[in-house]
Amino acid sequence: MRTLLRCEDLSVRFNVRGGVIDAVSNVNLTVNRGECLGVLGESGSGKSQCFLAVMGLLSRNGSASGSVWFDGREILNAPRKELDRIRGRSIAMVFQDAMSGLTPFMRIGDQLTEVLVEHMGISEQDARKRSVEVLEILQLPQPRRRLRMYPYELSGGMRQRAMIALALLCKPELIIADEPTTALDATIQAQVLEFLGGLKRRTDTSIVIITHDFGVALELCDRVMVMYAGRVVECGLIGDIVSRPQHPYTQALFQATLGIDADPESDIPTIPGQAPDLQRLATGCAFAPRCSQAIPRCHQSRPELKKSFDGHMAACFVEQRR
Ligand SMILES: Nc1ncnc2c1ncn2[C@@H]1O[C@H](COP(=O)(O)OP(=O)(O)OP(=O)(O)O)[C@@H](O)[C@H]1O
Ligand SMILES: [Mg+2]
Repeated sequence: MRTLLRCEDLSVRFNVRGGVIDAVSNVNLTVNRGECLGVLGESGSGKSQCFLAVMGLLSRNGSASGSVWFDGREILNAPRKELDRIRGRSIAMVFQDAMSGLTPFMRIGDQLTEVLVEHMGISEQDARKRSVEVLEILQLPQPRRRLRMYPYELSGGMRQRAMIALALLCKPELIIADEPTTALDATIQAQVLEFLGGLKRRTDTSIVIITHDFGVALELCDRVMVMYAGRVVECGLIGDIVSRPQHPYTQALFQATLGIDADPESDIPTIPGQAPDLQRLATGCAFAPRCSQAIPRCHQSRPELKKSFDGHMAACFVEQRR
């Protein structure tokens, strides 16, 4: 399988008053062509920032280090112009917050056609036609009417689908979808997942899907990486992650998703204990203070990510059943 995206030692740091926040630390990952990688982890674990860094879209107080290769080219340090071209055509991101991916005071139709005219060089008329097609594929009711609307006139779910349409228009090689279904109701959520799955099968498009939801990962992903406090703590095939998770954090996340004590009001699973303070991480494993299996060593040094079995890696000192 050919690698499309590769991150090596990718770190993201933010300057804040009173110090720095290491939001992402030394992440290594690959996404092959036609593959779907899931990125799981609690709120604040660095999922979004990792991929915003890939896109060159960090906030001003943030900076990234390491390297990012897309289709054999280093893009983290690429000139702005080259990055804009790759970003517009080859990689598309569906943002977590649908509003931030759309221009508020521009009609949906104009936003969609502008992308096509600018990046694909097709005529305005053909661009309109293709925009309607994509909205139809995403089952947005009355697509022609929607094109005349502004983002604030659409419901959250429709806005989300308009943004997915925007991402799909140029037929990108890689789609990075950040919680693409969180704002949607169950039926539409299922449609969007089915659509993404179909796209991957039919067109060899690679997908990164960032989610809190093991169910979403199960449906769509070939492989999964689990993040905690900015680091990858486990990665492997989805089947192995589910049937024999090696890291106590992955186990806890899984239990929280399925568990009886999960909060029915919230989509987001909660794990007992305090989320880590990224400005004050202790020397050992960042999860140790919340880990029911921690041994003294876990508080003294940080376990590196290492092979547990074929195709599977975890960063934990405690031996698990394999
Ligand atoms: N501009 C910023 N300045 C300082 N810290 C930031 C900035 N943007 C993000 N962070 C911090 O970086 C950390 C990682 O954030 P990130 O958005 O990647 O989390 P996430 O895993 O995507 O969470 P969620 O599931 O809630 O979206 C968080 O602690 C966040 O507060
Ligand atoms: Mg996020």
